[in-house]
Amino acid sequence: MANDARIVIDLDVPGPVINRHLYGHFSEHLGRCIYGGFYVGEDSPIPNEGGIRLDVVEALRKINIPNLRWPGGCFADEYHWTDGIGPKDQRPTMVNTHWGNVEENNHFGTHEFMALCELLGADPYVNGNVGSGTVKEMSDWVEYLTRDGDSPMVRQRKANGRDEPWRVPFWGIGNEAWGCGGNMRAQAYADLARQYATFCRDHGDNELYRIAAGAADGDLEWTETLMKAISCLGCSRTPKKIFQGLSIHYYTVAGPWDHKGSATEFDLEDYYLTLGKAQFVDRIISGHSAIMDAYDPDRTVGLVLDEWGTWWDVEPGTNPGFLFQQNTLRDALVAGTHFDIFHKHAERLMMANIAQTVNVLQAMILTDDSADGRGALVLTPTYHVFEMNKGHQGAQRLPVHIVTGPDPHPAGGYQVALLSASASTTGDSALVSLTNVEANEPTTVVLDLRGRDLAGQTARVLAADVLQAHNTPADPDRVSPRELTDVQPHPRGLQVTLPPHSFATLELLLD
Ligand code: AHR
Repeated sequence: MANDARIVIDLDVPGPVINRHLYGHFSEHLGRCIYGGFYVGEDSPIPNEGGIRLDVVEALRKINIPNLRWPGGCFADEYHWTDGIGPKDQRPTMVNTHWGNVEENNHFGTHEFMALCELLGADPYVNGNVGSGTVKEMSDWVEYLTRDGDSPMVRQRKANGRDEPWRVPFWGIGNEAWGCGGNMRAQAYADLARQYATFCRDHGDNELYRIAAGAADGDLEWTETLMKAISCLGCSRTPKKIFQGLSIHYYTVAGPWDHKGSATEFDLEDYYLTLGKAQFVDRIISGHSAIMDAYDPDRTVGLVLDEWGTWWDVEPGTNPGFLFQQNTLRDALVAGTHFDIFHKHAERLMMANIAQTVNVLQAMILTDDSADGRGALVLTPTYHVFEMNKGHQGAQRLPVHIVTGPDPHPAGGYQVALLSASASTTGDSALVSLTNVEANEPTTVVLDLRGRDLAGQTARVLAADVLQAHNTPADPDRVSPRELTDVQPHPRGLQVTLPPHSFATLELLLD
């Protein structure tokens, strides 16, 4: 039996802009994210430009990725950027102690990352090293990347083949300083963040958006300490903030840390618990926003969720340090509900970065390195949510009210909402996203469309026979968007029937 729901959407009340950077990405020197994922080297039989995989670039261009964070993560705080410039055969190697204890040859460095961003059409978000670096090292990196004219760093950059400075809008001041980034206490890090941020200069017209390494999950005290430290005490005539944003990290981990559960083998109880944990990101963002509101009521400081997504046990037989996991329809529904929550927080949340883009955690793309696979590439169900939702980037949020719907489902202390929705407009059109979290039943939704007339619509759905469905090189389109045919006119607007466990988008043409 189908559930019934009614959702009111005020089409004529455009709200805040949904920052396109909420659809951001994260690429770390971890497992096969960079090497094998983004970068295969110039000599690879896989088509590449300067070693960067062109099939990966092509797939990511289709989802308009707005920014890419690099080189970590935990790796950022042991990365020394000068090791990754100059002739590749002369670059020193290092041990990646966080991720698999493997040797890093530094063949993918600053120039390769910037070339990747240019190919993707994405803004670079470079994460500097506070944990084991120096203020000078970070300051020099900013100069190397962004300064024009003549200076010691500019001369080095030119000697390495790049005359023009790059534009680097986003700069991270360390990562997870409370943990892998140095095991610091909040006040100690806040003082360091002020110091490092001071020497990350704006060169020419490159204005940096400096992002302080923020809290884990619900650590509100960390956020409060950073908010107290953000004002530039010595610059009362120009009350500029020392850093412009601060981050938080929140992963959807359904099990205990040492047994997070399988990505593909799970039961209904695991499923609902996962969705409960995913929806809890709303509380996490609300909590940090409330603290920020107290210190920054005009909301000039951005909250940056620069790591989010599901975290499962690694796929059997793969390196535990490489965090390679499969990606099912369940992961897609986690992404769908996250985006509805991100849109809800558009006034404060200025960026979010899923962890991670290729071959690590909740990836968009999985590549197959085996001899048989010959570098085959699979788009995950999560990729399709990003693609179906890309019209929200830079659009204005619309008020959405789920007036009636199925009762929440209790799971592990969470009350899991069984229907999730959001909408936005660019003027002539609106995009509506709907997630039917209900595992077993379809949901018939009346979209009560107010304030504008409807001139037409198209609808797509991401669904599968079972929640565990996922894509493989042998069956790459098992979970992929299809036309949603069960859409009818209704006196209030439209009536849509969503299959069980599905994600759907409707593009509405407005008169
Ligand atoms: O994304 C994997 C790791 O998770 C990152 O390196 C770190 O910042 C977080 O703990």
